[in-house]
Amino acid sequence: MKNMVLVIGANGQLGSVLVKALRRTFGVKNVISSDVYCKNKSEDIFEVIDATDMTRIQDVVIKYKVTQIYHLAAILSAKGEENPLATWQVNMKTLFNVLEVARKNNLDKVFFPSSIAVFGQGAPAENTPNNVSLDPTTVYGISKVAGENWCNYYFNKYGLDVRSIRYPGIVGYQSLPGGGTTDYAVDIFHKAVLNKKFQCFLKKDTTLPMLFIDDAIRATLEIMSVPKTDISVRTSYNLSGISFSPEEVVHEIRKLYPDFEVTYQPDFRQEIAATWPKSIDDDKARKDWGWKPQYSLEEIAKIMIKKLRNYYHTDIRSLESLSV
Ligand SMILES: NC(=O)c1ccc[n+]([C@@H]2O[C@H](COP(=O)([O-])OP(=O)(O)OC[C@H]3O[C@@H](n4cnc5c(N)ncnc54)[C@H](O)[C@@H]3O)[C@@H](O)[C@H]2O)c1
Repeated sequence: MKNMVLVIGANGQLGSVLVKALRRTFGVKNVISSDVYCKNKSEDIFEVIDATDMTRIQDVVIKYKVTQIYHLAAILSAKGEENPLATWQVNMKTLFNVLEVARKNNLDKVFFPSSIAVFGQGAPAENTPNNVSLDPTTVYGISKVAGENWCNYYFNKYGLDVRSIRYPGIVGYQSLPGGGTTDYAVDIFHKAVLNKKFQCFLKKDTTLPMLFIDDAIRATLEIMSVPKTDISVRTSYNLSGISFSPEEVVHEIRKLYPDFEVTYQPDFRQEIAATWPKSIDDDKARKDWGWKPQYSLEEIAKIMIKKLRNYYHTDIRSLESLSV
């Protein structure tokens, strides 16, 4: 049967890059991009979907004969703390809607992104295993733990093929992050390239698990492409890229911008980061579907700087719209 893919929450940091990769894989006409708002009017196939509205998801699924959903819509860790109950509502309601529509319409597969935010202080901070106590401190983390368990439930009860990855913080040049605790690792490169000072909201030695966007996209395509029987974890897979701290990023940036100035002013996001692992054991993902990260911090820094230099030099007006 032909694959027809729907991406929900596609305008964000991950979705805007994932949609392009999916279109290369499945063909432009077989991938529907959607979000609560329309970002790019000339986009190939785009539908406005508020994923808290189940009927709207159902209508789009029927209209295009959708076979797979990538459900990316969520309120992220730092932003989520501003309004915990609304965050819970959005994160859980959108997931239930996707799972129900997928079940009722016998969809082939669903992708649900989880996060390292599922971990709390009950988990070992170094090489955190897949299967440990999950005691998150943020509403975002709580919603991801609950979400993972609901995905597992839908697989066990209804046989729905839901697959999930616990992404670390994602670093990419194509889009700005949407309110997470690891956002500094993108913002810092923008400031360096623009010759601006950077104020970091984490302490300089706060080491967190991170992942380059190309690795994140490849992992997503890989987990979704293997046979159903290869997936032994039906909650969510740990995924490791590389771990680094703000001062290590600064060290890499200063190789190209020796005068780059950074100050550290930790805020509430430092408290969130302090409860997250420093490094992740992703043995299960490696064994089950052959996961292997490719990018080191040095490579990430070089690519980020090169791409952002091109970006700002070719389209300086976008600078204001990005408000960095
Ligand atoms: N970026 C990261 O570092 C990271 C790390 C771990 C997990 N994740 C997960 O990956 C997914 C994508 O993350 P991202 O960084 O692209 O987030 P983002 O905040 O950049 O994008 C999320 C998108 O969801 C949309 N959205 C919000 N509410 C919606 C609704 N009701 N209906 C439809 N769309 C809605 C937003 O408009 C936005 O475009 C999320 O589920 C997130 O939890 C991301």
